[in-house]
Amino acid sequence: MNDIAEILEREAAPAPANARKVYVKTYGCQMNVYDSQRMTDALGADGYVETATIDDADMVLINTCHIREKAAEKVYSQLGRLRKLRDKRRAEGRDVLVGVAGCVAQAEGEEILRRAPVVDFVIGPQTYHRLPQVAAEARRGVKLVETDYAIEDKFEQLPAHDARQIRARGVTAFLTVQEGCDKFCTFCVVPYTRGAEVSRPVGQIVAEARQLVDAGVREVTLLGQNVNAWHGEGPDGREWGLGQLLHELAKIEGLARLRYTTSHPRDMDDALIEAHRDLECLMPYLHLPVQAGSDRLLKAMNRKHTADEYRRLVDRIRAARPDIALSGDFIVGFPGETEADFEDTMRLIRDIGYAQAFSFKYSPRPGTPGADLADQVPDALKSERLQRLQALLAGQQAAFMQGLEGKTISVLLEKPGREFGQIAGRSPWLQPVVCSETVGKIGDIVNVRISRASANSLLADGA
Ligand code: SAH
Ligand code: SF4
Ligand code: F3S
Repeated sequence: MNDIAEILEREAAPAPANARKVYVKTYGCQMNVYDSQRMTDALGADGYVETATIDDADMVLINTCHIREKAAEKVYSQLGRLRKLRDKRRAEGRDVLVGVAGCVAQAEGEEILRRAPVVDFVIGPQTYHRLPQVAAEARRGVKLVETDYAIEDKFEQLPAHDARQIRARGVTAFLTVQEGCDKFCTFCVVPYTRGAEVSRPVGQIVAEARQLVDAGVREVTLLGQNVNAWHGEGPDGREWGLGQLLHELAKIEGLARLRYTTSHPRDMDDALIEAHRDLECLMPYLHLPVQAGSDRLLKAMNRKHTADEYRRLVDRIRAARPDIALSGDFIVGFPGETEADFEDTMRLIRDIGYAQAFSFKYSPRPGTPGADLADQVPDALKSERLQRLQALLAGQQAAFMQGLEGKTISVLLEKPGREFGQIAGRSPWLQPVVCSETVGKIGDIVNVRISRASANSLLADGA
């Protein structure tokens, strides 16, 4: 899961006059982006509309991430600013509700109310369907902390997507199919913040995908902390795997592109690899984090595979789909990492060749086994290694981008370009592509020739 850790401003559907307004700030991974949309929809059923301007808001909802210390700290600085906003509001005789959702909410619960009294409610990812009731209580002055894992099915209880909202969000959409994690990598908080693995049934997923496509979506990205561990109940009563689910979704007319993220190497089974061979609409791009290239570290991280097993897996995937591009996540400075371990990671990166990657300094997380290990790596060393690793990965990314110069590739057109006369879309490998608006309209998939690659985007002929 890529930690995009940024505030996502979305275009809101036009609001009826005097509706209550909610401003949502999203940190963390794509699952949080999806959750923010579902929370907005749930509040919509309760009379709230989304606003992109914090000054208009009757409620500010922060959807938080706990994956690294920096991500978690952001919440409290944000809450400090909200305290000032509330003081200003109260001086004007108005008020604003403040809610904290997401993984920090789940991990810290009551503690958030203690540290930041400005907060009116705390709600964990498993209880978002209860948001309207929690908000109603907050309006009456009752501060709730909802972080129990609910027994009922959250997805059954959440209201369906609002078609207007789907259209406002564009032609690509996320769809969570699996939540939680049973893997317990020793560095990671996700099993504690998101709970045990749960897979949604096929019927629910297909119905939601149809709804998205009916509202104009052309590309769906299936999400899960371990999306390829998904094993849901099929309409035949049997347990299906992700490969079979992708085949079913590929039948939906109008759904032109499918993606899924994030995958664990151990859950790439044959049926899934074959889906990459057999399904044209399954995009040739796979985010397959490995974290490290040293077997000793992989063991200490509890990843349960070796570096060579990863190399062989990538060979099999590439044999099935030769044009597939890989991306990955890497952690430097896990406790006990030696220069030789780090070199093993560099060697693995050279062997595989990534089109894109996300890399992080190890951040000890409270409650995880890694945090208690001796031999924590000094920060300066982590920074130095991260720099070397990122230079290597940046070189690979640039080589991949340059390799596309002069090639004709398919692009899903997503939005107007930044400059007049341009339209922007994405390549099969997720790079932004800037085209001339004469090539087509938003939602079209067009073939364009790439004239130039820059560091992060591609320019098509005529743009
Ligand atoms: N489920 C995915 C990863 C989810 S977390 C997987 O198993 O691959 C997203 C990424 O954050 C991880 O891949 C890892 O690279 C990074 N990450 C997780 N915990 C971290 C920590 N404590 N310090 C630094 N990076 C971490
Ligand atoms: Fe975290 Fe490991 Fe689970 Fe990924 S597989 S979410 S890194 S515990
Ligand atoms: Fe962050 Fe939670 Fe996602 S910790 S990366 S928001 S699962």
